Amino acid sequence: MTAKTLISHPFDMIVFGGRGDLARRKLIPALYHLDRERRLPDDGRIIAVSRGQMEKADFLRLMHDECVVHSPGDAIHGPFDEAAWERFAGRLHYISLDATDAASYRDLVAALQGRADVVRAFYLATAPDLFGPIAAHLKSLGLVTPESRLVLEKPLGKDLATAQAINAAVAAAFTEPQTYRIDHYLGKETVQNLMVLRFANALFEPLWNRTHIDHVQISVAETVGVGGRWTYYNESGALRDMVQNHLLQLVCLAAMEPPSTLDADMIRDEKLKVLRALHPIGVEDVAQSTVRGQYRAGTVEGNGVPGYLEETDSGAASNTETFVAIRIAIDNWRWAGVPFYVRTGKRLPARSSEIVVQFKTPPHSPYPASAGIIHPNKLVMRLQPDEGIRLVMLNKGRGPGELKLRQTALDLSFNETFGGRSPDAYERLLLDVIRGRPALFMRVDELEAAWQWIDRIREGWAETGLTPKPYAAGSWGPNAAIALIERDGRTWHEDD
Ligand code: BG6
Repeated sequence: MTAKTLISHPFDMIVFGGRGDLARRKLIPALYHLDRERRLPDDGRIIAVSRGQMEKADFLRLMHDECVVHSPGDAIHGPFDEAAWERFAGRLHYISLDATDAASYRDLVAALQGRADVVRAFYLATAPDLFGPIAAHLKSLGLVTPESRLVLEKPLGKDLATAQAINAAVAAAFTEPQTYRIDHYLGKETVQNLMVLRFANALFEPLWNRTHIDHVQISVAETVGVGGRWTYYNESGALRDMVQNHLLQLVCLAAMEPPSTLDADMIRDEKLKVLRALHPIGVEDVAQSTVRGQYRAGTVEGNGVPGYLEETDSGAASNTETFVAIRIAIDNWRWAGVPFYVRTGKRLPARSSEIVVQFKTPPHSPYPASAGIIHPNKLVMRLQPDEGIRLVMLNKGRGPGELKLRQTALDLSFNETFGGRSPDAYERLLLDVIRGRPALFMRVDELEAAWQWIDRIREGWAETGLTPKPYAAGSWGPNAAIALIERDGRTWHEDD
């Protein structure tokens, strides 16, 4: 295979939580695939760091098996490539270390000796209460070089105060430009394409405002439950787990003003303005503008599944939401009067994420009622599965008989159009870390503005006692979510 965008930066990527779930399912398989595609420089090492003792051979065997499962190959690359794995394994190292104990960083210090001039990316895939202590140890041990980066996984706190504490702690060791806060949704192809669609085409931007757009819907539906992650999730809930980060980032990209360049701060400045313009939802209007749900037993994709409180690792009672729907207003000229309806949930009928921009109905119809309803145009951006863009419009049905208006779509499937394989979001983001491109990472002020808005909703829920409504696994959430949008005379988009 020929070299693609081989990057020239030699690097050391040090993954804390190097045997954890994220490293096994996402990070190591993504790095393996990048290497398989020859996108990594020859001089690039990956040092997994974790508390437990483990022989290197056992670690390599474990990661091999994870890569077989999570990066199994595809039609373009063929099956899992053992030779590529062998080459990749040469980059992998394992160091056992207790992240809270500076003395136990000895082996890491030794491993990094003499490589102060290469890119050094510390990837913290650990619990967030370790972010501050790890950053402090790295600094006190002299491991933070000018070429260092600190990558932080979510959850970045559980509210504004805890997020600020984490940010302050890491800022004592790493500068803001060295700090990369991951939101893996920003690495998804369609999400990046949203900016291209808006800002590289003349067609949409003139229509992208309150004069022409009726409303926007953003749905991130998952079929999985929270089994296996119950303890984390029960502290978090859908609002913190999905809305604070992924969904608000999608709102930002859909609603932001065009940046004048693709400079990371230009983009982040524009996103920040959207976050600051989100109309606060608090105690007065949480009941009208938000819906919480929690799944009960049901059937998803033909399989019977337990309810949230019956998951094997669950507690007996909980008021944590596994579904949330919110009607968001954005207080600026472009979006005044244009609601953004967002919803996300576990154990919904299908894994499907999309942004739907619904335009206004034409102001006048010359067609008789017998021609059919004038449905408004919709632009549907599918994030997953089958990434693509669909423009729904009306056309005349064929034939010489009575004129009938038919809803039809211009449908662009990225798979069919571009062929190849859609890269995993982490592949893109890990390369960006190594290349030093922070545009797809959250800046501190964005993170804090998002928490501020979210905290107010949570306070509203607490003060009004708004608890989650039950919904059957395999349904689209509680009926109240349907009522939320229908109150405004609208409906959730269904694929036609
Ligand atoms: C994570 C959440 O950030 O995103 C998970 O913690 C969720 O609860 C996941 O399942 C969804 O990501 P994706 O890429 O599968 O849509």
